[in-house]
Amino acid sequence: MPLESGSKWRLVLSALLISAVILELDAQEQGVTPGRTPKPSKPKLGKSTKKGPRAVTTKPKTKATPAAEAHNLLTQVLNRGKFKKVGESISVQTGDTLELRCRGKPVQWSVPPYLEEDDDGRLRIVQHERYGTLTLVNSTGADTGEYTCYPMYCEDTDCRKEYNKAVKVFVFFPDPQELFVPSSDYYEVIQLRTNWPTVLPCQVTSPEAKVTLHREYPPVEVTVDGMEISFNVKKGFTINRPRPHHAGALYCVASLGNLRQSSTKYMLIYVNYPMAPPAPVIQASSSSVVVGENLRVSCTVMGEQDVVVEFTWEYPGQQIGRPLYTQESISPVGGGAARQQSQSLLLVDEVRDVDQGTYTCTAQNLQGAKSVSTTIKVVPKTKPKKP
Ligand SMILES: *[C@@H]1O[C@H](CO)[C@@H](O)[C@H](O)[C@H]1NC(C)=O
Repeated sequence: MPLESGSKWRLVLSALLISAVILELDAQEQGVTPGRTPKPSKPKLGKSTKKGPRAVTTKPKTKATPAAEAHNLLTQVLNRGKFKKVGESISVQTGDTLELRCRGKPVQWSVPPYLEEDDDGRLRIVQHERYGTLTLVNSTGADTGEYTCYPMYCEDTDCRKEYNKAVKVFVFFPDPQELFVPSSDYYEVIQLRTNWPTVLPCQVTSPEAKVTLHREYPPVEVTVDGMEISFNVKKGFTINRPRPHHAGALYCVASLGNLRQSSTKYMLIYVNYPMAPPAPVIQASSSSVVVGENLRVSCTVMGEQDVVVEFTWEYPGQQIGRPLYTQESISPVGGGAARQQSQSLLLVDEVRDVDQGTYTCTAQNLQGAKSVSTTIKVVPKTKPKKP
């Protein structure tokens, strides 16, 4: 039986013991999706949702191109036709126009996800003969984010992005009213996986804002030491090695001048995330069973405590609907380290000829799946000897 893709979700859900919340596995990997060109203007009613281009960001591999050379490709066009090389980040006053020019024929752009979804006619992308321009008018703090230019490599009409030549600039639009890039969600659920860096994406609109991290209950400021938790003005806070005590409701506070504002709330849920896929061991009560006897096949996984393992079986009688049944159990393993044994036991009562063949157990956790098999031979009953 092939593992359905939904199976990973079920695991996540059972791991969380919450069935109502669907988590985006890679919510924290939020980023600009390379490869999407801004959609044409499509006025939307109501608020924007934060779904959408949140692909697993395969970071374009930055080759050893000197940064200076790369940034020559991208310039900011200022008033009266003046050009300015851009560094890693720039600030543009809200309400002003952002104009970027990128050398290449053609080029493609990627913009912050919000802008990609809710383009309301303020963004204009034009390709000239030797360069492309991106113009964003009537800017707001919400436009803060990463703007990337990808020079394209073309053969006839077949073009592809040259990822190693991508140039990015982070643009802040300091907004006198909004210190945080607004979010339409009142709160955001974020999964904390064991030893997996997690980002709380409270993005400020001004690089000058002072940002602190707070826990809702008990109400305390969280220490940001740069090791366990670090801050990046272009990203937010990162919990570098999540532990169970990081879970709970957190939010950021930004202050600048007389202004002090709170971000969206982040509900952090801790998930025991396995270090590796499971390594199941299969064992049958006997490799050769007499018709009419019972057979037990066990599939055992030793793993980290509280890591959910899901078992699926394939067996010879499956097609004809042999009603086998399984028993699953979890038991702690002694010896200090927090480990547990998960086991699925397949029980075949009164073995028949059709039960002969290969028994396969697949064990899956959030890191992956592994299958193991064993072969069972069914032998006829020895006829009682005639006297
Ligand atoms: C920009 O703002 C001005 C003044 O509010 C308005 O007239 C204009 O239509 C806006 N432009 C776009 C493209 O939204």
